[in-house]
Amino acid sequence: MSKIFNCCSKDTESSHLNGMNKELATMENNVDKIKDCDKVDRGIPKAEHMNGYHGCPFSEKVDIDSENEKRLVKPNLRLKVPQPLRLKNHMFAEENLDTLHSHIDDVTHFNTKCSEKVCQSSIMDIPGRGNAPRSPEEVFKDAETFIRQYFSSIKRENSDAHLARLREVDKEIQASGTYQLKTPELVFGAKLAWRNAARCIGRIQWKKLQIFDCREVTTASGMFEALCNHIKYATNKGNIRSAITIFPQRTDGKHDYRIWNPQLITYAGYLQPDGSVLGDPARVEFTEICIQLGWKPPRTAWDVLPLVLSADGRDPEYFEIPREIIMEINIEHPSYDWFKDLGLKWYALPAVSNMRLDCGGLEFTATAFNGWYMGTEIGCRNLCDSNRLNIVESVACKMGLDTSSYVSLWKDKALVEVNIAVLHSFHRDNASIVDHHSASEQFIKHLDNENRSRGGCPSDWIWIVPPMSSSLTAVFHQEMALYYVRPSYDYQEPAWKTHQWSKSDGNKARRKFHFKQIARAVKFTSKLFSQALSKRIKATILYATETGKSELYAKELGTIFGHAFNVQVQCMSDYDIFSIEHETLLLIVTSTFGNGEPPANGVTFAEHLFQMLYNEKKNDQADSAGYKTPTPKSLMRANSVMTPRNEYKRQLSRLESSRSNNEYKRQLTRLESNKSSIGGTSSAENIGPLSNVCFAVFALGSSVYPKFCFFGKTVDRVLEDLGGERLLEVNCGDEMYGQEQQFRTWSSNIFHVACETFCLEENDTIKDAEKSFGVIPITKDTVRFSNVEKGLPIKNALEESYKKHFITCRVKENKPLGDFSSDRATIFVDMEVDSEFKYEPGDHVGIMACNRKEIVDTVLSRLKDVDHIYDRPVQLQVMKETLTPTGAIKTWEKHERLPAVTVRELFTRFLDITTPPSSKVLKYLASACTDTSDAECIKELIEDSNKFDDWRYHYYPHLAEVLTQIPSCRPQASVLVALLPPLQPRFYSISSSPLAHPKRIHVTVAVVQYKTQNGEGSTHYGVCSTYLQSLKVNDEVVAFIRRAPNFHMPSDISVPLILVGPGSGIAPFRGFWHHRRHLIQNNGSEAGPLWLFFGCRYRGMDLYKDEKEEAVKDGVITKAMVAFSREECINKKHVQALLEDEGAEISKILLEKGGHFYVCGDCKMAEEVQQKLKEIIKNHGKLTDTEVDDFILVLMEENRYHEDIFGITLRTSIVHTASRETAKRTRLESGQSQT
Ligand SMILES: Cc1cc2nc3c(=O)[nH]c(=O)nc-3n(C[C@H](O)[C@H](O)[C@H](O)COP(=O)(O)OP(=O)(O)OC[C@H]3O[C@@H](n4cnc5c(N)ncnc54)[C@H](O)[C@@H]3O)c2cc1C
Ligand SMILES: Cc1cc2nc3c(=O)[nH]c(=O)nc-3n(C[C@H](O)[C@H](O)[C@H](O)COP(=O)(O)O)c2cc1C
Repeated sequence: MSKIFNCCSKDTESSHLNGMNKELATMENNVDKIKDCDKVDRGIPKAEHMNGYHGCPFSEKVDIDSENEKRLVKPNLRLKVPQPLRLKNHMFAEENLDTLHSHIDDVTHFNTKCSEKVCQSSIMDIPGRGNAPRSPEEVFKDAETFIRQYFSSIKRENSDAHLARLREVDKEIQASGTYQLKTPELVFGAKLAWRNAARCIGRIQWKKLQIFDCREVTTASGMFEALCNHIKYATNKGNIRSAITIFPQRTDGKHDYRIWNPQLITYAGYLQPDGSVLGDPARVEFTEICIQLGWKPPRTAWDVLPLVLSADGRDPEYFEIPREIIMEINIEHPSYDWFKDLGLKWYALPAVSNMRLDCGGLEFTATAFNGWYMGTEIGCRNLCDSNRLNIVESVACKMGLDTSSYVSLWKDKALVEVNIAVLHSFHRDNASIVDHHSASEQFIKHLDNENRSRGGCPSDWIWIVPPMSSSLTAVFHQEMALYYVRPSYDYQEPAWKTHQWSKSDGNKARRKFHFKQIARAVKFTSKLFSQALSKRIKATILYATETGKSELYAKELGTIFGHAFNVQVQCMSDYDIFSIEHETLLLIVTSTFGNGEPPANGVTFAEHLFQMLYNEKKNDQADSAGYKTPTPKSLMRANSVMTPRNEYKRQLSRLESSRSNNEYKRQLTRLESNKSSIGGTSSAENIGPLSNVCFAVFALGSSVYPKFCFFGKTVDRVLEDLGGERLLEVNCGDEMYGQEQQFRTWSSNIFHVACETFCLEENDTIKDAEKSFGVIPITKDTVRFSNVEKGLPIKNALEESYKKHFITCRVKENKPLGDFSSDRATIFVDMEVDSEFKYEPGDHVGIMACNRKEIVDTVLSRLKDVDHIYDRPVQLQVMKETLTPTGAIKTWEKHERLPAVTVRELFTRFLDITTPPSSKVLKYLASACTDTSDAECIKELIEDSNKFDDWRYHYYPHLAEVLTQIPSCRPQASVLVALLPPLQPRFYSISSSPLAHPKRIHVTVAVVQYKTQNGEGSTHYGVCSTYLQSLKVNDEVVAFIRRAPNFHMPSDISVPLILVGPGSGIAPFRGFWHHRRHLIQNNGSEAGPLWLFFGCRYRGMDLYKDEKEEAVKDGVITKAMVAFSREECINKKHVQALLEDEGAEISKILLEKGGHFYVCGDCKMAEEVQQKLKEIIKNHGKLTDTEVDDFILVLMEENRYHEDIFGITLRTSIVHTASRETAKRTRLESGQSQT
C-alpha cells in the first residue's frame, strides 16, 4: 500500500475546501498563534490513539469578516478559532500541533470513514465523488479557491492579476461550463496534490515533479506517445525522476480520457485451469480485458501488459510498450547464490495511472505519475503477499528454515532476505530505490517542514508505516492526523466498469491486432515524436547585461534551444521571479559589474534569489550563536564583496547554526546513507524550492577584475543551494581571452546535456540545431531596408531603440581641468536640461554618444546596397516565418531594435563600430570579399580562436580599420547593420548638486586616448569621452539619469563621511560637497566631518584644487588630502598610503562614530583600498581577521560602505596586458583552447 508515490485522497460531492484558500497566506501566522496558544494549555484535544483517527475535529466558525465580504475577491473564509490538534512523537516525547485540518471547510462534509464511535481507518477504499460532472457553480467555487491558493503561492494574492484571472475564469465558465487552467497553475496544482496525498510517504520530494502538460492530445495514440515519453523521462537509465503526465480534463462526463492500466508498467496475470496464477495475481482481471481487446499474450510469468487507453470517451485501444524503454531489475541476493535461480525480477518505475487529479474544480481523469520505489513495496507486498507472488515459503525452504512452526519466525527471516535482495539488486543496477528506514526518516523531516510552513500535514498512519519492521521505523512512533485537502489525487472506478461502449456488445473483443500501432510504437523515437515531446519541455533563458553582450549570447542560445525546447528568452529585470519554482530548465547568461556585482538589470533578480535563500535557511528562533543574523542583503553583499566562497559559506553556516538545538534534535542522521539508497537526482537532501529546476550558468566577465565573473558564479551557487540541479559547471567567458569561443563551446555542450537530460534523442531536430552553432542566421535574403517617408527625430528614435526615456541637455560650458602637464586630459562639462528631471548626488548620467565621423564615413563608403544614399530615412526589416496549418507564411517585419532613421544615423548613433568585430561579423565580412586572399586572411582568424584573440587584443581594430585591411570587401548595408551590436550608453558620475545647480548636470570626464599595438600603432579615441570633449556650447546631448541608491549621502549631514576618489573618481564627490554647502548655508544644519582623499599623477592634475580649498575654508570639507604618484621630488604616494597615515582617526570614525566610507573610480584601486581599510581597522581596532570581515559586512549591511566603480580606467594597458597573459595561460593550460 505504501508505495513511495502512491497517493490517495477521499473525495465526495462536498469536498470543497472552503478556507483552504487562505491556507498558504495565513499558515505562518497560525503557526505563530498556535505557538502562543501552546504556552497556556487550553485543553487542546489530543490524538486518541496511534492509528490515525482523530475524530476529525473541525473547529467552530465565527462570523464572516464583513470587510472581506465586500471585496470582489473574497477570501471565502469563515474565520475560525483554530483548534490545533496535538500530535505526539512517542520516540522523542515531542509534540507538534496540526492546524491545517481546521482549514477544511465544513460545508464539504468531507470525512474519513470514521464516525464518532467507530474508527474505520483501516478500511482501504475511499468512496470517490462519482463520475457526474460538476455544475458550473461548483466549478467556479472550487476554481476561486484554487486560484487564490495559486496567487497566494506566487505572492500576488488580491493583485490586479489575481482579479483579472478570476474574471477570466468566471467568463469562461459562464460561456462553456468549464475553463482551462494555465500551465503554471496546473504545475502548481499537480505538485500541491502530491503534497496533500495523505498516503504517500515520499512527499518530501513534492516540489520536485516534472509535469508533462498533454492537454492538447486528442487521440489514444497521442496519449500513448506521451506516456512512452513519460516512461523514458522518468526512468532516466535508473536514476528515477518524479513526473506526471496530464491529459484533457473531464467535460460532460461522456468524453473522458482514461488510462485503463492501474500502473503504466505491470506484469500480466493468467488464471490457470488449476486455479493457480501465472504472473501477478493482482492483474488477472485487467489481463483478461487486454486479451478481450485483442492483445496476444506471450503467457510467461513476466509479460508487461500493453497500455490500454481511451481518448475523448471513445472505445479503448491498446498499445504494446516498447521493451527497450522498460527498465527491469533481475533480483539476486548479495549472499545467497541460489536466489537468482528463482528467476525473479521487477520493473524500476512505479507509475500510478488510474487516479484522477482534482484541481481547481476540474477533474483530470487520465493522469500517470511516478516516484521511485520503497524497497518493501516490492520485497514485502509484490513478492511476498500471499495474494501476490507469495514467494516467502519457497525462499524460507531454500534458506533451510524450519517452516513447520511460526515460532521459528521463518516468515520474518525470509521476508528480510527478500527485501535485502531487492535493495541489493536495485543498487547493483544503479536504479533509484529507498529503504523503509530512510523513507521514514525523510517523512518525519517532511512533517517537520510542513508543520513549520503550513501548520500540519494530512497523513494516513496505516499507509505511511512500512509493512516490515514497523516499530523500528521513525514513523511508527509518530501520531498523525488524517484528513483530505484538495487539489488531490483520487481513486476512481476502473475504466472498464464505467466506460460507455460505442458498440452494443460491451467490452468483448473490441479490437483486432493493431499492426499500425505496434509499428508506430517501435518507431516512437521518430523525428515527429521527438519534436512533439520537446515542445513540451520549457527552457527559460535569463540574461543580465550592462553593455549588451549577455543579451546577444542569450538570444543566440535561444535560437539553438528553440530547435528542441519551448524557449523563452528574458531579461532578469522583466522576469517574474515567483515563476522560478515552476521552471524546468533554466539557463542563465550574465555579466558582472561594479566590483563583483550584478549588472543593473540583474539586481532585483539577485535580491530575490538571496531572499529565497534566506527564507530557506532562516532561523525562526533566537540566534544562539550570538552573531548578528545575516539578512538577504548582507548575504548578497557578503558574496560580492568578501572573499568569495568562504565568506558566503560562513554566512550560510551561521544561519544554520543559529537554529535552535531543538529543531535539530531529530536532524536526520543518515542523510549520507540515504544518498546511497536513493538515486542521484532523487537525493532527499536537496529538496529546496528549486529542486525541480535544472540549470546552467554562463558567466561573462573580465579577468582584469579581482572578482572575475562573480555574479554569474554567485547565481550558480545560489541556484544550487536552493535545490536546483546543475547540468554543467558554471562556465566563465573572459573578455580578456576567448569569451566568444567559450560561449560557443558552452552553448553546444549545454544543448547536448539538456537534450540528454530530457531524453530528447539525437535526431534531425538536434542536428538542425547543431547547424546553428555559430552560424549567421541573418542573410541578404532575410533582412532588407525599406524606404520610409520620414525618419524619427533622433531623441525619439533613440527612445524607441533603447526603450528608455531620455532628456535633452544643452552644453553651457566645456573646459579642460588641470594644467595640461599630464598626458591625460580631464574635462568638465556643464549641461542644462530642458525638461523635468530628478537626481541626487551620487547618481549617474548615461550619455548617448556619437561615433567619430571619419570612422563612420569610411564604413559608409564601403557599403553595397544603399547606393551612396546614406541620408535617406530607411527602416530595417527582418523576414519572419510563421507556421500555419496551410504551410509556412513569410512576412517582413520591422527590426525590433533599430528605428527608422538614415543609414548614416544608424552608424553614427546606434551601432557599435569601434569594438573589434565579433567572429560572427568577421564571418560575414569574409563572405562579402570578392578577392579570395582577403577572405582567406579573415577566415584564418575565425577558424583559430587563439589567433583571433591575439589579433583582437594587439590591434584592437575598429570596423573601419578592418575594412581597410580587406579592400575587396563590400558588405551589404542591411546585413551588416543587423549583425552589429548596439552602441552602448556610457555612464558618468554626476559632479553637481540639484540644490546647488538646479536644471544642470555637471560631469568630470577623463578623455580616453591611446595607441594600439603596445603603443606603436594607430591612435584610438574613446567614443564617448572624445565626443563629450568635442562638444561646443549649445550643442545638444541626449542623456538619461541612472539612480545609484547605494551611493547616496546619508540624509543626516552630521554623519561623518570619508571619501576616496583618485583621478576622475573625484567626480561624484564634487556633487557631494556642493550639496553640503547648500544644506549648511540654507538650512543652517550642523555638518559632521568630511574627509576627502584624492590622488593623481602630478600636481597639475589636482582636479578642482581651488574649489576644494574654498570648501575647506568654508568648513564644508574638513580635510582634503592629495597623493601624487609621479611627482618629482616628493614622496610618491597612492590614496591607500594616505589612508594609512590617517588610520587611527579613520578607524574611530567607522568603528565608533557611525561614519560612512565611499570609494569611487577604478576597480583595482577600489579593491586595494578595501584591503587597506581592513588592515587599518584590524590594527587600530585590535580586531581579528574574522572580526574585521564581520565589521565590513556590518558596514555594508548598514549601507555605510559605498562603491562607485568605473571599470578599469587607470593603467588600462598595463592591467590588460598582465591579465591577458594570465588568462591566456590559464585557458591554454586548462585545455580549453579551441580552434
Ligand atoms: C558607473 C560608472 C560611472 C562612471 N563615471 C565616470 C566619470 O565620472 N568620469 C569618467 O571619466 N568616467 C566615468 N566612467 C567611465 C565611462 O563610463 C567610460 O567608460 C569612459 O569615459 C570611456 O568611454 P569612451 O566611450 O570614451 O571609451 P570607449 O570607446 O568605451 O573605449 C574604452 C575602451 O578602450 C580600451 N582602452 C582604453 N584605454 C586603453 C589603452 N591604454 N590600451 C588599450 N585599450 C584601451 C578599453 O577596451 C576600454 O574599455 C564611469 C563608468 C561607470 C560604469
Ligand atoms: C564598470 C565595469 C565593471 C566591471 N566589473 C567586473 C567585475 O567585477 N568582474 C568581472 O569579471 N568583470 C567585470 N567587468 C567586465 C564585464 O563583465 C565584461 O565586460 C562583460 O563582457 C560585459 O558583458 P555585458 O555586455 O553582458 O554586460 C566590468 C566591466 C565594467 C565596464
